[in-house]
Amino acid sequence: MARSSTHIQEKIILTLNLFILDLVSLLKIVDLVAKECDSGDTCLKLQDKQHGFVGITIYIFGLFPHTNTEKDRTATERYRDFTVGWIMEPLLHGDYPISMRETAGARIPSFTNRESEQVKGSCDFIGLIHYTNANITDNSEALKNNLRDYTADIAAKLISGLNPFSNEEYPVAPWGLQEELNKFKLRYGNLPIFIYENGQRTPSNASLQDESRVKYLHGYIGATLDALRNGSNIRGYFAWSFLDLFELLDGYKVSYGLYYVDRNDPELKRYPKLSAKWFNWFLRGRRSTSIVGAMKLVKDPSHISI
Ligand SMILES: *[C@@H]1O[C@H](CO)[C@@H](O)[C@H](O)[C@H]1NC(C)=O
Ligand SMILES: *[C@@H]1O[C@H](CO)[C@@H](O)[C@H](O)[C@H]1NC(C)=O
Ligand SMILES: *[C@@H]1O[C@H](CO)[C@@H](O)[C@H](O)[C@H]1NC(C)=O
Repeated sequence: MARSSTHIQEKIILTLNLFILDLVSLLKIVDLVAKECDSGDTCLKLQDKQHGFVGITIYIFGLFPHTNTEKDRTATERYRDFTVGWIMEPLLHGDYPISMRETAGARIPSFTNRESEQVKGSCDFIGLIHYTNANITDNSEALKNNLRDYTADIAAKLISGLNPFSNEEYPVAPWGLQEELNKFKLRYGNLPIFIYENGQRTPSNASLQDESRVKYLHGYIGATLDALRNGSNIRGYFAWSFLDLFELLDGYKVSYGLYYVDRNDPELKRYPKLSAKWFNWFLRGRRSTSIVGAMKLVKDPSHISI
């Protein structure tokens, strides 16, 4: 089970990141837009004329070496290069990470000088999607495969202990997010960051008293704040999600919403969960946003109405 869920999880990251990863193709689009600009009034100069911002979103795990060995520590760095550096390094330095170029050789496309210059510094902000941590262990054996692809080149395995298609709740382990935010600060140019998605998964039929979601949001917003105070360039945080809805990977089996939606009711009536009440208090700067305050709400939710 652990093995197959790991496999599935890798495919998921790959799929999610593939939406955004082909920077060389992206450049062709940028090029088209640039040509359009040369030819007249239809110019899209988003950044110059409209004062718009262009950003990219990355799905990240909090990555930790599975054992305290050199092999697993190196594998963890490599895993980060292959999942985060793959996107960030071209944006900062105009080329893929050295570890990727060395391992993949001619199988990874190379940037022309012009492309490097175009992609470098083209990103105004980074969006991060984060839910949980994972351990990484060395899998250098994969480099002996005759046919090598992205997952063989990583030469590392992801061990999460969580099945992404189950309705298991995520552990509240916000130090993973905090560590990754530190990495973005120290290694990846400290670009402005928005936490685009972060939240707790519960079974769709779970109780409205979603204490685990309150604990999760409390912990992760706290970690985001700690990282901000420690110099991370964080500009925003979005909780996933406002309402229970159809999830891309889980359908209606699980939910992330602060509001329960009764799908058996033709009116689709919405009911606030405990987390909605807590978040409301938090946004209004009420004192009882501490976890102790939140647990008092659990005992007597009649305090609040939304
Ligand atoms: C991840 O590694 C730590 C030790 O570094 C260990 O305590 C923990 O159980 C591991 N988690 C999984 C899911 O294997
Ligand atoms: C929720 O649904 C699952 C699977 O359908 C079931 O096993 C469980 O008992 C249900 N829980 C509640 C609280 O209704
Ligand atoms: C704060 O940032 C420094 C590096 O700038 C890092 O070494 C340290 O671990 C960070 N502290 C926390 C609590 O994340």
